[in-house]
Amino acid sequence: MSVADLTTSPVTSTYTKTSSRLHSSQLSLSSTRLSVHFSRSPRPIPRAQNFKITCSVNQVPAPAAVQTEEAKNKSECFGVFCQTYDLKAEEETKSWKKLINVAVSGAAGMISNHLLFKLASGEVFGPNQPVALKLLGSERSFQALEGVAMELEDSLYPLLREVSIGINPYEVFEDAEWALLIGAKPRGPGMERAGLLDINGQIFAEQGKALNAVASRNVKVIVVGNPCNTNALICLKNAPNIPAKSFHALTRLDENRAKCQLALKAGVFYDKVSNMTIWGNHSTTQVPDFLNARINGSPVKEVIKDHKWLEEEFTEKVQKRGGVLIQKWGRSSAASTAVSIADAMKSLVTPTPEGDWFSSGVYTNGNPYGIAQDIVFSMPCRSKGDGDYELVKDITFDEYLLKRIAKSEAELLAEKRCVAHLTGEGVAFCDLPEDTMLPGEM
Ligand code: LMR
Repeated sequence: MSVADLTTSPVTSTYTKTSSRLHSSQLSLSSTRLSVHFSRSPRPIPRAQNFKITCSVNQVPAPAAVQTEEAKNKSECFGVFCQTYDLKAEEETKSWKKLINVAVSGAAGMISNHLLFKLASGEVFGPNQPVALKLLGSERSFQALEGVAMELEDSLYPLLREVSIGINPYEVFEDAEWALLIGAKPRGPGMERAGLLDINGQIFAEQGKALNAVASRNVKVIVVGNPCNTNALICLKNAPNIPAKSFHALTRLDENRAKCQLALKAGVFYDKVSNMTIWGNHSTTQVPDFLNARINGSPVKEVIKDHKWLEEEFTEKVQKRGGVLIQKWGRSSAASTAVSIADAMKSLVTPTPEGDWFSSGVYTNGNPYGIAQDIVFSMPCRSKGDGDYELVKDITFDEYLLKRIAKSEAELLAEKRCVAHLTGEGVAFCDLPEDTMLPGEM
């Protein structure tokens, strides 16, 4: 979905924290001051001194690297975000909640370019929730990151109170309450899947360590960069002080795709499709569960009588939707991915409607379905809206569903063996099934 290039040049810790701009109505009086901070390299990057992560969108390359002192020192804040404003007394009486810190990696990429504006607008957290965006890019994408920050300034979002940009996860993730990990390297020509797992795994191991060191203990992490389930596993294994339950791999896009296809076939609008589970890996082994899904409250199989279509065409359509999209667009999905990240977040901060559920790739320990422990597997979840979730217990299985789930489970167990060196579980052994692919690799 997005790209992070790994090179061996040393990290330049460039970090710009810009404080929120306020509306002109807010430029007077007050006791609360939003100050501007700028920090440069206060904290070295442990274990990564010769490790540079460059995040940008895979489809649209970031501006070429400008490895000059000037570029490295790009640390001045942006126009209006650089100002220090006083808050109007009146504003303090407003019912705004405490500022929420949202860190985003791959922030100069296309998915982020859609997502950040949703976050800043209040669409995800609501109209009373001011937001601080902490954007992680790379030395190479730093100029693009500045461009993103400039567009955020120009959008005059009242709820957007802080924007900070940087390339050091130990700085950018500081106090993060949400971490949306989007930056990852796409599989290049001739690259073995094991190689992809390794390269991306290193990024997510490092980011897990950084979250462990500096993020809020209650941080909710959504891993988007592929292969997202195993990246999420690596990340959580490297963050032992953060509950494993707080890590998610994004399968909401698959859920949304599955709902759309069922609606199309049934001739109904897609809001009539509910209880849609995606089981397993965000790959071509994922299982869109038409046995438990509902259309207008009725089991899908009662509404769509063409069961052959469900088992064959529907399932494959959802599994390969990402790849078809790449063929059409010439790049991976970006807008719909951003929408699904926002959906995934909203599902955790608003109570799940009675009787319904949503899909998320979550840690399997303690799951009631008999799925192998210690992997990140997409399963049906419900939330009270407090950021946490519980797994849905009332699920029906049949032979078809169990067989498909077992295939995705085997794939994830193989991926796990392949990254053992990154999860602290010994020597990696890669015996990945040959037909294993990301949705975009068909
Ligand atoms: C998607 O599902 O659209 C992406 O994960 C595809 C990809 O490989 O980038």
